[in-house]
Amino acid sequence: MKRISDLEKLYAIEALENSFRTSKGSEFNTRLESEFSDKFGVKFSIGHVNATAALHTALLSIDIKAGDEVIVPPLTMSSTSIAVLQANAIPVYADIDLQTLTICPKSIKKNLTKKTKAIISVSVYGLPPNYKEILKICRDNKLYLIEDNAECFLGKYKNKTVGCFGDFSAFSFQASKHMTCGNGGILCCNNIDLADKARKISNLGYTTVSAKKMLIKKEEIQSPNFKRHSLLGYNYRMSEINAAVALAQLERLDELVNIRKQSAKIFLEAVSDFDLFTPQYIPKNYECAYWATSLILRTDNPQKDWFKFRTLFKKNGGDDFYGAWALSYYEPLLQKFSKSKKLKQKYVEGLCKNAEFVQPRIMQFKTNYWNLNEAKKQGQILKKTCKMF
Ligand SMILES: Cc1ncc(COP(=O)(O)O)c(C=O)c1O
Repeated sequence: MKRISDLEKLYAIEALENSFRTSKGSEFNTRLESEFSDKFGVKFSIGHVNATAALHTALLSIDIKAGDEVIVPPLTMSSTSIAVLQANAIPVYADIDLQTLTICPKSIKKNLTKKTKAIISVSVYGLPPNYKEILKICRDNKLYLIEDNAECFLGKYKNKTVGCFGDFSAFSFQASKHMTCGNGGILCCNNIDLADKARKISNLGYTTVSAKKMLIKKEEIQSPNFKRHSLLGYNYRMSEINAAVALAQLERLDELVNIRKQSAKIFLEAVSDFDLFTPQYIPKNYECAYWATSLILRTDNPQKDWFKFRTLFKKNGGDDFYGAWALSYYEPLLQKFSKSKKLKQKYVEGLCKNAEFVQPRIMQFKTNYWNLNEAKKQGQILKKTCKMF
């Protein structure tokens, strides 16, 4: 299977043949948004330059203001926190569940204050969080929920595909994701007023764009009387070429997701005979999209053993793999932020004990093998490395 097939090439050429004429200006964006909404069972989808921008738009659309608090998990790529900073708000960290690695509802509750306005949950490595509990907290405390599904395409929670649980849901089309156009993202929403606002914010605050309408009519914009900007917006629109490639990937999404799941199965089977790893736990009625196969090394000395295992794996012919991202609150950016604002929640060791325990032990094995024979070979190498370790 090819990651980029003839379909992506065909649509990209079609987009180019439209010569960026304004009359054709949003043909592929419109198709992408409409097909994405159908596939994910949401009413509105709004194309973005990337998922970080989509998260920023979502936060601004729910009127997050300076000083508001947004609860986020620390074990994620830090865009989740960065979008909160971009909205001038304060990331407040809730710990993760030790088994599923997703945000822990109990810890969310502990961190609620009068200033809490929203929660951003992350489907980390492709596994949806506990939406039932999280939505209950949102309802009881009048909070917004934003799903960060950058790593989760077609993942399911109780038979429902992710994307429809939160007030907003963001997906990424960055190069490592299930479907890609190099860089891109999309923001989904079921509420017309919120979607309307999100469209405007992602479109420089244009007066005439709305939830489903991204084009401005020529008669409107050409008039000398036309006033364009009704609110402060950002220029977060996706280009037509990117939308063309993303559309083709969307039309092939089932096979792109399935092959990743098969790779994950191979890696999970390879370690199943050994006591070396605890894989990310997938509860019943959850479906993981396996952006990566996440294995937690069972060791008391992760600083030594993580590197020792990786060196051995690579020596045996294993591919590169990543460790987990540094916890977001340890990033220098967040450290500086917390000191400058003198936050109530201190970004210090001990803040999220589960995340701190698990982070140095995680190995993220890639699932983007487009030829399963390669994944099988890597599985054999993983097995051999486990035996030798
Ligand atoms: C969980 C998570 N959130 C957000 C992002 C940001 O996505 P993008 O690179 O499209 O801005 C990523 C990955 O890149 C991610 O993994």
